Amino acid sequence: MSGFDNSRLAVVVLGAGKGTRMKSDAPKVLHPVCGRPIIEYVLDAVASVGAGETVLVVGQGSEEVRAEVGTGVRYVEQGEPLGTGHAVRVALEDLGEDFDEILVLPGDSPLIRGETLRALIDERRAQDATASLVTAELEKPDGYGRLVRDASGGVERITEERDASDDERAIKEVNGCTYAFNRPLVEETLGFLTTDNAKSEYYLTDVVGLFVSGGHKVVPVGAPAEEVLGVNNREELAIVDSIMRSRINSALMDEGVTLMDPDKTYVDHGVKIGKDTVIMPLVFITGRSRIGSRCRIGPCTAVKDTVVGDRCVVEFSWLDGCEIDEDVNIGPFSRLRPGTKMRAGSKAGSFVEIKNTVVGPGSKVPHLSYMGDAVIGDDVNIGAGSITCNFDGEKKHSTEIGDRAFIGSDTMFIAPVKIGKEAATAAGSSISKDVPDGGLGIERADQENIEGWRESGKKKDSKKKGTRKSDEAGEVPL
Ligand code: UD1
Ligand code: CA
Repeated sequence: MSGFDNSRLAVVVLGAGKGTRMKSDAPKVLHPVCGRPIIEYVLDAVASVGAGETVLVVGQGSEEVRAEVGTGVRYVEQGEPLGTGHAVRVALEDLGEDFDEILVLPGDSPLIRGETLRALIDERRAQDATASLVTAELEKPDGYGRLVRDASGGVERITEERDASDDERAIKEVNGCTYAFNRPLVEETLGFLTTDNAKSEYYLTDVVGLFVSGGHKVVPVGAPAEEVLGVNNREELAIVDSIMRSRINSALMDEGVTLMDPDKTYVDHGVKIGKDTVIMPLVFITGRSRIGSRCRIGPCTAVKDTVVGDRCVVEFSWLDGCEIDEDVNIGPFSRLRPGTKMRAGSKAGSFVEIKNTVVGPGSKVPHLSYMGDAVIGDDVNIGAGSITCNFDGEKKHSTEIGDRAFIGSDTMFIAPVKIGKEAATAAGSSISKDVPDGGLGIERADQENIEGWRESGKKKDSKKKGTRKSDEAGEVPL
């Protein structure tokens, strides 16, 4: 933690660039990394600094950015984005005189850590420097500004890749676009920037060379390579996403979660998982999901915006917007849609779809069924292939099944319909009338047996394939 009072420090987050290289309709800083917009990670790191004010410079798509970020920051509209130097100038023009120190960072680098920002601020103060800046050594520095050092190893200037000589391009030490500045000096120096460069923009990086040539001290602060990685295109988005994913996965393993293959486990930022839960490969746990302790999830399972209790098993399944209590067994191959509530000890088995339905404690929907808009009581058994016919083409209707009811296989519930407690339905019945408590609903045509059918009909049938007439003696259409 910074040992100083940071109330006179203001943070400027740059988020007004066009994001051209993303080729996207959405503002770059809103692209999700592990399910969360890039800018939110940046603002989290900023929050840990405890600055007096945070300014977010916005431009194209600013309405969307404001809607996402909300009221925690002060917004400044850059207008035409004329470069990072211009963005900071616009932000400072808008900033109260109380602030004498500025932290600037890009809105497109979500891997920056709060501790690096605090070290940057502390270092500038400790060395009584005009500016400090985050640098890192990148194996592939392509696209980044390079730090040019003088003969004695001090900072000389930064050169952008497009403006760099071949020798400068070979430098692997890059600029993280993250700086702490003495406010009056940076404000003055921004006034001297020109657009005399490859992009015809006001580069913030140029203030570094201007400070040094003016005799002002600039100190570099080294950071781990990953922290300076920016998201400028889809490839960098994928790289940053995979690093964030491994941070999330490491934290989960630290907390006692087993990941059988962390490289193939996709857990969004903010998801909580209890200890001794085992996550198998190709599992996606996203949105506002929470998983309890001692569960087994996967393989090949997606859990979105769903709360899962302790000791559940979910295999090869898809869950969205569900509430799963403890000791529930799901899959393989269940699809549980929004509004599904599986109570303690219940089961949804193979090829089962459930929507907007409560499956009561201990109740089972083991095979090949669709339950929609239903309330199923305690300890009910739903026979294979049963379906709630909940939609009449215009409206949805509900089905109610009482405690301990026994539903025969292939029951059709013509909703709205109610099955009483301890009632039963006979296999193959279409139930369109309520069944009273303890009663049996049976709806079945009488069965007829044709004796000697194989001898008479089937034989003839096999000789005259495709020419059978149903009125020929001994033949019955199949
Ligand atoms: C910038 C730095 C480069 C550094 C890299 C690190 C400059 C000129 N270059 O390059 O030295 O290595 O970051 O990630 O500063 N923005 C605005 N208004 C503008 C232009 C940009 O708000 O007019 C914002 C962008 O939204 C982005 C940030 O500033 O969040 C950086 O801009 P970007 O265009 O991504 O700069 P880089 O080319 O990555
Ligand atoms: Ca960038």
